[in-house]
Amino acid sequence: MEFSIRSPSNIAFIKYWGQRNSSLVLPSNDSFSMNLSNCYTDITVERVEDPSVKEMIIKEFKTDEYTPATNAEMQKVLAYYDVAKKYLGVANDTGFRIRSANSFPKKAGIASSASFFSAMALAFTKIFGKDLDKKQLSILARLSGSGSACRSIPDGFSWWKASDNSEESYAESIEAPDYWDLRDIVLVLSFDEKKVSSAEGHQGAQTSRYFNIRQQALTSTLQETKNAFQMKDFTAFGTLIEQEAINFHSILMTQVPPLFFWSESTVRCIKEIVKLREDGLEGFFTIDAGENIHLICEGKNEAGFSEYFLKQEYVKEVIINSAAKGTHFL
Ligand code: PMV
Repeated sequence: MEFSIRSPSNIAFIKYWGQRNSSLVLPSNDSFSMNLSNCYTDITVERVEDPSVKEMIIKEFKTDEYTPATNAEMQKVLAYYDVAKKYLGVANDTGFRIRSANSFPKKAGIASSASFFSAMALAFTKIFGKDLDKKQLSILARLSGSGSACRSIPDGFSWWKASDNSEESYAESIEAPDYWDLRDIVLVLSFDEKKVSSAEGHQGAQTSRYFNIRQQALTSTLQETKNAFQMKDFTAFGTLIEQEAINFHSILMTQVPPLFFWSESTVRCIKEIVKLREDGLEGFFTIDAGENIHLICEGKNEAGFSEYFLKQEYVKEVIINSAAKGTHFL
């Protein structure tokens, strides 16, 4: 048995930070995201009868060759294999060979774990001969440990519900990819590896004295952002998601120990986006747990922004995304 799967990464407009339960990866708050059309992982999986065969090779962005996964990468896949086996209620072991290729550079502040683990959720389901609906697949993706992977399962724009109950915390599509002609122009400012993983970062979230304030404010922010999205009011939407990105990073910067991801280039880029906006080119930034910028604009302004940022020597790579389909077989 051999099959292939494509799964997108996603960018959260309203981000999840902090967990109610870290072993079940239950988030402190709802989050809302868009799947990315040009940042995805393709995996090809071969099911092997011999359970001792568990292999993975990886092809990095802009390289031609597959190389064996590192020990740390393999350990994460094997741990997730056990989680999936338990969730799916499977008794027997199976072997597998995985080929994984990313359409985007690793270490670029784009959640490659979300695209990879959402693809693996579907792969393990298939390998074990099971068939899950999207809700259950999203729960299984969440249990990978990279919680935001659950938002890559549904199509287009996803909403992930926070809950104390594992069966109630999953992501659903609130609109299809073609609902709104939005872009996420990823401005890669650095390829440096993050020193602290998100999993570790979530643990410290509540040490920020502003954590509870953000949690309380999120109820109305989520509703207002959803309203602006439903009205397709780009100015209101962009203003809200930009403020949210700053609030999110305020928690990171004030938790103990602090996580300070912004670099000189991040601040420069923020100021340039604000200036371009004042000059009539409308776009807003959001920033994930990294130093790179996600510039959100409408399709009509894509060319203006990409022309501008391709000329800036401090911008290492420009990746233009529209909203995309969720995890699917190829
Ligand atoms: O997906 P995780 O569990 O590794 O957490 C990452 C969360 C952020 O990317 C920082 C925000 C989000 O909601 O995508």
